[in-house]
Amino acid sequence: MRNLIRTTDFDRETAERVLDLAGRVKERTKRREMSTVLAGYSAAMIFQKPSLRTRVTFDVGMKQLGGHSIYLGPSEISMGVRESVSDIAHNLERWVDIIIARVFAQSHVEELARVAKPPVINALSDEEHPCQVYADFLTLKEKGLKWSEIKLAYLGDGNNVCVSLMLLGAILGIEMRVGGPKKYWPAPSYVEEFEKLAKNSGARLHLTEDPREAVRTANAVYTDIWASMGWENEAAERSGIFRPYQVNSALMAEAEKNAFVMHDLPAHRGEEITDDVMDGATSIVFDQAENRLHVQKAIILECLGFSTEV
Ligand code: CP
Ligand code: NVA
Repeated sequence: MRNLIRTTDFDRETAERVLDLAGRVKERTKRREMSTVLAGYSAAMIFQKPSLRTRVTFDVGMKQLGGHSIYLGPSEISMGVRESVSDIAHNLERWVDIIIARVFAQSHVEELARVAKPPVINALSDEEHPCQVYADFLTLKEKGLKWSEIKLAYLGDGNNVCVSLMLLGAILGIEMRVGGPKKYWPAPSYVEEFEKLAKNSGARLHLTEDPREAVRTANAVYTDIWASMGWENEAAERSGIFRPYQVNSALMAEAEKNAFVMHDLPAHRGEEITDDVMDGATSIVFDQAENRLHVQKAIILECLGFSTEV
């Protein structure tokens, strides 16, 4: 049994196994032949922030695997306020087999994983979003790109999604560019981590304040909202700061012809991405969303030690 708290909790071999498994799980799900290996298993889903994709896909995924889940929203358990993180972990471990947690502080999901006996999956924290980027790389793989062929440009805020993209990209060996104002670049510790992982994988990273330079020759262009959950009070200020990094048709014209358009969603149309680009022929945003279901089933199976049985 294992946790997925940081993207780097899975090494390359595990990452490849999970992505292969996700592909098989997807085929079997489409044929309605999914194994119900998790019959009798329960998941606790702690969500301190709102969610459409993550909540629905974990819930549906657990049910399709034969298990079930219990949603614990912010008003139910007030993690760290009504009760300490550690006491919540010690309660949940008596009843459930896996804990899925969307939190503000990375330290909360780490404490849950340290204290609780069942595996813990990070369903988004202020620092990482590993489940999202597994779905993103599965999507690029399905589109026919080998890892070494991926030239991914990420535009905007260098926070959770960007960091997890960088780290999985570093593990798998892609070329990654991040375009954004320097103040919002990923923290230097993540850049160092990227470079360390890149020694084995051949991955390359380039950070720039120039959006055109970021997307030049990219075959996938990715963006995310400018004011993440918890930062909404900065929305007006960020709207001005990030404006030059909007993914629109003029910026896409600088990328490789037919470059894929990616977004983890929810999107703020007209801000970080324009309608024509998001709804354009090369947009794969809803394929990414679809793959959350299949990849998370694979992650659950990996964390519970069932990855070879499905
Ligand atoms: N991409 C993503 O995690 O979406 P939700 O916030 O709706 O779960
Ligand atoms: N960066 C975004 C991702 C949402 C899925 C946020 O943290 O709100």
